[in-house]
Amino acid sequence: MEKVQQVYEGKAKKVFSTEDENLFIVSYKDDATAFNGLKKGTIAGKGAINNRMSNMLMQMLEKKGVPTHFVEELNDRETVVKKVSIVPLEVIIRNVSAGSFAKRYGVDEGIQFDEPTIEFSYKNDELGDPLINSYHAVALKLATKEEIETIKSMAFKVNESLIEYFKTLGIRLIDFKLEFGRLADGKIVLADEISPDTCRLWDIKTNEKLDKDRFRRDLGGVEDAYQEVMRRLMGE
Ligand code: TMP
Ligand code: ASP
Repeated sequence: MEKVQQVYEGKAKKVFSTEDENLFIVSYKDDATAFNGLKKGTIAGKGAINNRMSNMLMQMLEKKGVPTHFVEELNDRETVVKKVSIVPLEVIIRNVSAGSFAKRYGVDEGIQFDEPTIEFSYKNDELGDPLINSYHAVALKLATKEEIETIKSMAFKVNESLIEYFKTLGIRLIDFKLEFGRLADGKIVLADEISPDTCRLWDIKTNEKLDKDRFRRDLGGVEDAYQEVMRRLMGE
């Protein structure tokens, strides 16, 4: 499978068309941004780690009955995926207080919830990805009511599987962001990526942060954290 033409460049990935109209190739970059692109940098080796990790997790989720865009890993940075149109919602699941939740409600980070929460942001860089509720998303025709119900139940199912999986790696899944896409026939599948860029991952014993918060908050040891997650995923 060959790349034909670049169709999109995001902050962390490029997307290319292929000879097959139903397939795209995504290419993961080492570029990192935070705060809607205000903070910029690179994380050496990130592209390869996120590609590998996302593909492993998507294959695990497929086995658990969650349809995803994953087709085939091409090389360390590139993967063939099903062509989707992205639903312009960032779907955020939280198990433990952190980040914008802790800030918005004035609570400490690290408080374990009895039940996971879900929220949506409107994927729109100009507006700074504002929080949106499902009624507003339907009013703006970002998704139908039925699609939102499908997305919610898929997102909670992904959470259950990821919590269990990361636990076996000595990692506590604090929160994460998912994106969903529509195939040509309208079917909703999990898309984008699942990686330390899009999840908060804390070491179960020490609560050490093993994710992009090390970059966002200038904590140092960014590359080491990504490599540590990869090492555990590879069963080393
Ligand atoms: P938040 O606490 O900043 O709202 O982030 C919640 C989760 O979503 C966290 O795991 C990081 C992830 N996330 C993204 O993947 N992309 C983003 O643009 C933002 C703001 C958060
Ligand atoms: N990647 C996002 C941005 O640059 C934000 C983040 O992950 O914190 O806007």
